[in-house]
Amino acid sequence: MGTKFKKINRVSEELSLPGDKSISHRAVIFSAMAKGKSSIKNISLGEDIKSTLKIMEQLGARINSESEVIIVEGCGINGFVPSIHDLDCGNSGTSARLIAGLLSAQKFSSTLIGDESLSKRPMKRVIDPLKKMGVDFKTNEIRTLPLTINPKQKLIPIKYEMPVASAQVKSSILIAGLHLDEETNVIEFEQTRNHTEKMLGLPVKNVGGKIISSSTKSYYPNTKDYFVPGDISSAAFHIVLALLTPNSELLIINVSLNPTRIGFIKLLKKMGANISFEDVRVSNNEEYGNVYVKSSSLRNIKIESTIIPNIIDEIPILTIAGLFAEGDFIIKNAKELRVKESDRIHCICSNLKLLGLKVQENEDGFTIRGTIKNNNPVFESYGDHRIAMSFAILSMLLESGGEVNGFECVSISNPQFENQITNIMS
Ligand code: S3P
Repeated sequence: MGTKFKKINRVSEELSLPGDKSISHRAVIFSAMAKGKSSIKNISLGEDIKSTLKIMEQLGARINSESEVIIVEGCGINGFVPSIHDLDCGNSGTSARLIAGLLSAQKFSSTLIGDESLSKRPMKRVIDPLKKMGVDFKTNEIRTLPLTINPKQKLIPIKYEMPVASAQVKSSILIAGLHLDEETNVIEFEQTRNHTEKMLGLPVKNVGGKIISSSTKSYYPNTKDYFVPGDISSAAFHIVLALLTPNSELLIINVSLNPTRIGFIKLLKKMGANISFEDVRVSNNEEYGNVYVKSSSLRNIKIESTIIPNIIDEIPILTIAGLFAEGDFIIKNAKELRVKESDRIHCICSNLKLLGLKVQENEDGFTIRGTIKNNNPVFESYGDHRIAMSFAILSMLLESGGEVNGFECVSISNPQFENQITNIMS
């Protein structure tokens, strides 16, 4: 049985969200790398973060919670210990790729495993640069998990031009590079989310593309008190619901406003959305503040290829906004969507076909035309949290509501999604 969602008549109120998933992963890993106690306030409650926390514990960090604050007692950058069990990343690509970088710099071997979806996702993208740094890997022919990492010798610093726009790959190399006296340089031509370099305070040179460097000289792992701002990618669902529900207004407080994460807001504003930022502040080099949203009429516009890495996680919910906007919704240059928690191009198109829309699926995107004909659909989540939440929001916008099969996968990033929706309905 699927989870049913009714049409929502009005959205109002104020909402605060659990911490951003990308920042939470990094706060946990960087705290584990520091010797002593760090605290993390407003950590993400998603299953993905539980995977990272458990792995850091298996490698020697001590983790406790004290009245909603997580205390990580780190073992120091050279103090990690081997785990007797394999390290289970669950559904989390960020855990697998960032921790692969950390494990590449240890004096012991480790094996990363994951769930069915993660075990299909490409690891070659981190294996290739880490191999260049002198690490040995044992994996299958298609280079997916399980992945055994055998750090053979002292790491070699590299200068790596990113062949794919991926913050996870960039971060993996930079984390390995933190263990070397000589600089490791990552050159990225398309700006991806920059939490790793911001939170670690790494040097970044802007020379057409960006060169980000890491070494023992650029960073000393200190204990810190982290405040994780609300998850802006989770907020995207509530923002689109408020925009498309008549007579609505919503204030989301203390949410991440890192410029590399708010591409979808910039795009929605160009589409005619009434969204503004208030009270912008900084914590651990990360911008955050309040987002105010009012119902708006939208029109589809051309989505430039340069913004794609900045909106990659929000394309499923942007597609829902696009359905209710004037004109056709077109996504191109987004091949990366095929290797996320699901093949998001195929899953979005399959669900939209249930509505009688004209859907053209392309290798790197899709085009959606026509009007919604079936008003009582049963969508599939495909085990992908962002697909599940996008089609739950779509259901809330349809006259007779809709249903999502396999909705429980929302716990990967936002187990409180349904409660939050109840709280903002009026
Ligand atoms: C993430 C980077 C992105 C994003 C993912 C989180 C991160 O993945 O899709 O949800 O925290 O670094 P890619 O690096 O594969 O683009």
